Amino acid sequence: MEAGSFVDVPKDLLGEIERLEKLFTIDTAKLKQITERFVGELEKGLTNEGGSIPMNPTWVMSYPNGYETGTFLALDMGGTNLRVCQITLTEQKSEFDIIQSKYRLPEELKTGDADELWEYIADCLMQFIETHHGDTSKLDKLPLGFTFSYPATQNYIDEGILQRWTKGFDIPGVEGHNVVPMFEEALARRGVPIKLTALINDTTGTLIASAYTDTKMKIGCIFGTGCNAAYMEDCGSIPKLAHLNLPPETPMAINCEWGAFDNEHVVLPQTPYDIIIDKDSPRPGQQAFEKMIAGLYLGEIFRLIMVDLHDNHETHIFANQDISKLRKAYSLDSSFLSAIEEDPFENLSETAELFQSKLDIRANGPELELIRRAAELIGTRAARLSACGVAAISIKKGYETCHVGADGSVFNKYPHFKARGAQGLREILDWPEKEDPKADDPIEVLAAEDGSGVGAALIAALTLQRVQAGNMHGILHPENFK
Ligand code: GLC
Repeated sequence: MEAGSFVDVPKDLLGEIERLEKLFTIDTAKLKQITERFVGELEKGLTNEGGSIPMNPTWVMSYPNGYETGTFLALDMGGTNLRVCQITLTEQKSEFDIIQSKYRLPEELKTGDADELWEYIADCLMQFIETHHGDTSKLDKLPLGFTFSYPATQNYIDEGILQRWTKGFDIPGVEGHNVVPMFEEALARRGVPIKLTALINDTTGTLIASAYTDTKMKIGCIFGTGCNAAYMEDCGSIPKLAHLNLPPETPMAINCEWGAFDNEHVVLPQTPYDIIIDKDSPRPGQQAFEKMIAGLYLGEIFRLIMVDLHDNHETHIFANQDISKLRKAYSLDSSFLSAIEEDPFENLSETAELFQSKLDIRANGPELELIRRAAELIGTRAARLSACGVAAISIKKGYETCHVGADGSVFNKYPHFKARGAQGLREILDWPEKEDPKADDPIEVLAAEDGSGVGAALIAALTLQRVQAGNMHGILHPENFK
């Protein structure tokens, strides 16, 4: 061995770990400060002046009672897949049957041409209908709830104006336009026998689907590719709808679009890595809160830390190794972090294998320690910040106890997300320590029912009911409800 080759051995990485801990840790006082501002921003979004959180009325104007019936199609255009379902809400209280198919949403369609996207969706729907209904020429038009999970104004069928793309989509010619006629034209061009009865956000679907089986459910959340929530407001507390003279007690589900919280960066402590994420995203300055929590970004935050510690610091992790694979933006998704956090071995051997197989990088012991800690810090920050949003809605509505229905890959698959979020809520809301570890928390975040399937069907059914009762608010094509 040549003299001096020991310079390649990384120095103690403790200092770096401590630096990351300072950057990413959000203590109780900060959580409370964020929540306080969040409550004010929710309120501001409901006024005419508005704020950075859009607070979109969805025209879902009641909770389900469990006795809704009928057969509906549901289409979910999420971040990665298209899902088509047929849901039958049965006579049995809170019960349903479902058949479904998934179609891949090709990556290139997310940044391609709008017509291609709509036609691809129309083709998937046609395929589904042909498979399950046979000859389409004799079919009456089937009612469809379309879960379009992007910020669209007043998310209902006459006002499905897309405010802006989120979650990495960037298709020209759609922002600022109503997506409903675009979608309907593609259906007509392809002769798909469908009538659109509701345009839905995934969070609203989650809220309604969860409330169908559990009346304590008051908030619907998604912690997945994106991050957002919906809850039921009273029309009397929505100053921006005052001109409609709706009865003040009437409920109105609000799609918060809380991913936009603190776009103006007043309270959220941004790290240098968050600043790069924002700057390099298709919409800089937007979705500040979402960019710290959502699955789309967690792996990228981690990747940026690793590259930084290789390039810019005295430590030079992965010294003298080719890190070209690690340099590829968005090449690590949140499942990569999940795998690191789940590594059960003291010596982090699974993490070492992961780095080797996925990135061609050999990580030594201290580097593995740093890798694990970085993943924990990113995952913990995301979960604790998410608690600020849940606490803010609960405080605004005066809910001291309730259930929150949550869905999405981060909520369902990211290790410890639920427990860390629950701990955040406990600190924000000053709950005493539990005596019985099995006891329920006053506000419990639980796995939701299927929002974009069952929720979409329920919303289509609820809309049908209210239109039949003469409430035509937000309805563009009354003929679709005959
Ligand atoms: C993004 C979208 C929002 C959606 C959320 C979860 O924040 O803007 O509409 O609810 O992702 O999918």
